[in-house]
Amino acid sequence: MITLGIESSCDETSIALLKEETIVANHTYSQEIHSEYGGVVPEIASRAHIQKIDRLCLKAIEEAGIGFTDIDLIAVTDRPGLAGALLVGISFGLGLHTGYDIPITGVNHLEGHIASVTLEQPDIGFPFLALVVSGGHTALYKVDDFGSYTALGHTIDDAAGEAFDKVGKLLGFTYPAGRAIEEEAGLYTGSERIPFPVARISDALLSFSFSGLKTAVKYYLEEKGEAFCRQNRPLICSSFQKAVIDSLIRNTKAAVKQTGIKTITLVGGVACNTTLRQELKKVFGDSVFFPSPKLCTDNAAMIAKAGYENFKRGFIRKPHMSPSGAL
Ligand code: KG4
Ligand code: ZN
Repeated sequence: MITLGIESSCDETSIALLKEETIVANHTYSQEIHSEYGGVVPEIASRAHIQKIDRLCLKAIEEAGIGFTDIDLIAVTDRPGLAGALLVGISFGLGLHTGYDIPITGVNHLEGHIASVTLEQPDIGFPFLALVVSGGHTALYKVDDFGSYTALGHTIDDAAGEAFDKVGKLLGFTYPAGRAIEEEAGLYTGSERIPFPVARISDALLSFSFSGLKTAVKYYLEEKGEAFCRQNRPLICSSFQKAVIDSLIRNTKAAVKQTGIKTITLVGGVACNTTLRQELKKVFGDSVFFPSPKLCTDNAAMIAKAGYENFKRGFIRKPHMSPSGAL
């Protein structure tokens, strides 16, 4: 069975083909143009998707050595995301659905991230906890099966990746800044740490909050002045990164305690962060799983995988044309 995955919810245009559970093509175009503006500009994102999506699809089809009529299922991200950006992928998928009479299903983007880890590690047993940490989302889910999720907590303001990007902007890095902050933090060799605060919302709700942390960094930079901050950028990055990681680990520990589930998956763009991966391993040992970096950031292979698993369980649904809502 061949599944075509389509992802266009934000600033990555991605097309993938799966043969059963194996990736046979996965092409992602990251729209670098947004770095000029310090963040994603929705209208530019929509237009960039339109310019790339058909060529990416032809490239994937060619690489897989198949024709459109060989595709058995189309899985397209239909929420949450930027409305105009999502519509490009949805319209493209519906065009193929109508033209070639291929079944189509809408896939929740977060469900795609949760499925991403199973592409390379298919034997992770259910139930497991999923820590979804990206530029748009930070949340913890209890996953009983594909299609069966219980939200345990989410951010009440900024996502962790968004905090990396906003703090990065304050420090003069280009968007997206997560990787640059991690690299800069890696230059710090001391043991000192600036005690940036992270709000503790409620253990019962397992909520996250990162906007106060961003503001604390902003005030620190203003107070210390430009020259000092330029010189001490590795210390600042390392302290900020540690504050984010501490918050993620604290809530994950609480989720393990609350549910009794010990298997943990870390997914989403921030899951590329090596320090976060190492710290989670230190605390939770071999029961932590994460995808390789290419499958952490937005990609269509994870959308195809979620769509395929739902299809196997007899569940497909028409893509939503008014994208909204959350998992
Ligand atoms: O999952 P993703 O590609 O898009 C969303 O669904 O939001 O995540 C992108 C986010 C950006 O905020 C980026 O700064 C962050 O992931 N990111 C990182 C790292 N690599 C990417 N954050 C921290 N450390 C990294 N190494
Ligand atoms: Zn994402």
